[in-house]
Amino acid sequence: MYFETRSWELTESIGLMGTTMNSRGLIGILLVPLTMCQVACWAAMPEQLVVGEGFVEPLGFHDPTPTFSWKLPVGTERQTSYQLEVRDVLAEESVWDSGWVDSDQSVFVPYGGTPLTSRQQLRWRVRFRDQDGLASDWSTPAHFEMGLLSSEDWKSQWIFQSTEVDSNADSEDERVAYLRREFPVANKIARARLYVTARGLYEVYLNGQKVGIDAFTPGWTSYANRIDTQTYDVTRQVKQGENALGAMLGYGWYAGRLGWSKKWNFYGNVPELLLQLEITFADGEVQTIASDDAWKSTLDGPIRISSIYDGETYDARKAMPGWSDPAFDDSSWNDVATSAKLETPMLTPKPFAPVRVTETLSTQRITEPESGRFVFDLGQNMVGWPEINIPVEKDQMVTIRFAEMLNPDGTMYTANYRSAKSIDFYTAASTGTISWKPTFTFHGFRYVELSGLPVGSTPSADWVKGLVLHSDLKPVGSFVSSHEKLNQLQRNIRWGQRGNFLDIPTDCPQRDERCGWTGDAQAFCPTAMFNYDCHAFWKSWLRSMRDDQSSDGRIPHVIPDILKNRGGSPGWMDAATIVPWQVYLRTGDKEILLENYDMMAKLVGWYRDHYADGVVTNVAGFGDWLQPYASNNIGDTPHAVLATLFYANSVQILANSARVLGKNVDAEKYGKEADAVKQELTNHFFDSDGKLQNAPETQTAYILAIAFDLIPARRQAQAANHLVRLIDEADGHLRTGFLGTPFINQVLDQTGHEEVAFSVLFKETYPSWFYSINQGATTMWERWNSYSHEDGFGNVAMNSFNHYAYGAVGQWMYERIAGLSPDPAEPGYKHFFVRPIFGGPLTSAGAELETAYGKAASEWRNTGDKVEMTVTVPSNTTATVVFPTTNITAIRVDGIVLNESEFADAMKTSDAGQVTVELACGVYRFDLLALAENDLQ
Ligand code: BGC
Repeated sequence: MYFETRSWELTESIGLMGTTMNSRGLIGILLVPLTMCQVACWAAMPEQLVVGEGFVEPLGFHDPTPTFSWKLPVGTERQTSYQLEVRDVLAEESVWDSGWVDSDQSVFVPYGGTPLTSRQQLRWRVRFRDQDGLASDWSTPAHFEMGLLSSEDWKSQWIFQSTEVDSNADSEDERVAYLRREFPVANKIARARLYVTARGLYEVYLNGQKVGIDAFTPGWTSYANRIDTQTYDVTRQVKQGENALGAMLGYGWYAGRLGWSKKWNFYGNVPELLLQLEITFADGEVQTIASDDAWKSTLDGPIRISSIYDGETYDARKAMPGWSDPAFDDSSWNDVATSAKLETPMLTPKPFAPVRVTETLSTQRITEPESGRFVFDLGQNMVGWPEINIPVEKDQMVTIRFAEMLNPDGTMYTANYRSAKSIDFYTAASTGTISWKPTFTFHGFRYVELSGLPVGSTPSADWVKGLVLHSDLKPVGSFVSSHEKLNQLQRNIRWGQRGNFLDIPTDCPQRDERCGWTGDAQAFCPTAMFNYDCHAFWKSWLRSMRDDQSSDGRIPHVIPDILKNRGGSPGWMDAATIVPWQVYLRTGDKEILLENYDMMAKLVGWYRDHYADGVVTNVAGFGDWLQPYASNNIGDTPHAVLATLFYANSVQILANSARVLGKNVDAEKYGKEADAVKQELTNHFFDSDGKLQNAPETQTAYILAIAFDLIPARRQAQAANHLVRLIDEADGHLRTGFLGTPFINQVLDQTGHEEVAFSVLFKETYPSWFYSINQGATTMWERWNSYSHEDGFGNVAMNSFNHYAYGAVGQWMYERIAGLSPDPAEPGYKHFFVRPIFGGPLTSAGAELETAYGKAASEWRNTGDKVEMTVTVPSNTTATVVFPTTNITAIRVDGIVLNESEFADAMKTSDAGQVTVELACGVYRFDLLALAENDLQ
């Protein structure tokens, strides 16, 4: 099936045939349980080609030396070699041919040609040889196109409406500016690309139509260092003849109000636009329309105010029909101000998915707790916009309020928004019905209240919908079990992620914060990687972290840093080591370690400077934030203990990263440093019985010392017993905050206290995950008791109902309850473990994860007399199943006792005496018969 001389075009059509044939083969394989990958007599072609961190045929790609990944067709066991070709589409020439490379690498294969350049259009294809040396067809080619890679590509100027020349502006208003210009196009258009960004937020219109479907562009980066740009294909929107471009500019994160201290203008005073429309004609000539002094602007449009925290005020009487069409009368508009300085910040194509509307929620219930105020319940706490379709009366203002919760009398509970007003206003131009949504603000809400409607209006459910907004990341994982509350927890975790992955990982989406709190992010990162493909999302955020790191090595509390370089909180600043390592572990992408290596080393250097004789001193911060029953927010674990534990963990990650990157001298140096710190901290903080000394005993101190593997094995076992004692003393409850909670189940489980791990997770009383669910949670809450039926609302000073940190338990649910976990020795699921534990009240559980190689899955079901396990291992990977039993004869594969089956040679016994089996790709069914004999561990 392989023709050496086949052209790209020919291959494409033959490739399609290959797909059909392959999908027939795939059905055959799946229908025969336990049939492995040995059946192919020819190798079908690679599929699902992606560039970089999961980009499917991207337009405006950012990386001049990208990586390439593909999946092998189901039915192929493994790859033994590959060949990859990249061609320049316009120049019609090859820019790189890898030749046949003997390698099983099918993900993140680095480009080996001359670095790609701005605007270049590329096409690539790949083929492979399988385990039997059979060559596949070439894949169907995939395209990608580069964005503008350097500031020098921009021939435009930043343009803006200066408030000084517009009497409509009030300095405290975040007034939206409208900008426009017309331009003629004389020739036949071959293609047109719009390159655009803003200091602030923008929406661009071309001939009256919004360009693209993205929201909150260009996103939030460390603006002084880097601003992302977008590329859109507008070939169909530009026309021969007269055209017009229009843009709306919001203050956004750049110039708007940000942070709880009511500060404004963190980065600049007014929003600015940078735009370049490049129209290529059939004859190759290029016409460029830039943002420059030919543009006009006004502040007198319908969006009077749009503020991220405070909401949007829209006056339809100010609408300017046709404002982004040609022939609009803009004679009353002002000339724009310009600024030509383009050297800084760096302008680069956005390296991850933009924010988009991903779902629309419908109203579930309408109430009228106060006369004329209608409350629409969407049934789910969410983040985004309302879409309202309502009757209005001329000159009447409709007020749209938001709330995550209701007061006992059914009115809106908004106190927890603190100083964020989060209210939209709509004033009608005429009587009738309108359909509207805001543009440059977002709200965190489950309830929408409408007031100011025409007297006598009867509300209906279709008046209000919820448009769910977040970074448009691909969902990759799912977890499900036999326990409805556990499933609700999984849903809440996902909604917590959706609500807070709005361009950066925020702490909360509704009050006057919405910042990239580093501690919350590092705690949640592993779980986040299971739910959505956030590889590129984290990479981009880490870049802002590098940009904002203090010269002394500390990481600011929030990234992008709006707290002006305050930092130094243990467990918060360790996002600099933990996030790159976790993303590497779960993707296999070494580049993320390389990119962040110096940042990690600088952070470790800061710890080192504060360290002596087993203790990091002179540190402050947020402690084990929000530990229940502590006398203050920072909890009972002293800063020195947390700082020392996190120092040891971070230096160990640094040493591991050095090893992965082949920096052997560093690996040895940092490895020694890690060993020394571990030894000294053990001596200082733990007595010979593994009990904490020189510090108060807390669950979190024990948990972190064990989770980070900082104390010797014997003391870990002893320390775990002390932890269990503390949990007993707390009547079986956790007493952990943001730092300890993510690891409590994992630590109990790895030290042989699985049943305690389950009972902590399944606790129904405060503090626990199910406690919040029992109080009605549909997302993760900041406090276990942010609300309770008994006591009402928690401390309003900090009471978010959408805070993902405690959702970090999702990692344990995926990795241990379902049993799907990565292997640091072969990261990115090249090899992985299936190690479920059958515990608690569960009778079944399972998880699926779409890895870069294909679907990995682990499911189990306890039928009473046996446990059935189904394991899916994708092509080009291997997995080790660790059965929770020591009894070999209890395990059947396809009805045959394991050690008498074809897998007998693949069997081993783990250090703990558990039976393991090594698997190549395929779908496998096992039965564990021993449950009745109480034999499962
Ligand atoms: C945020 C947290 C954050 C914390 C730092 C809070 O206001 O909402 O999630 O980590 O401050 O202590």
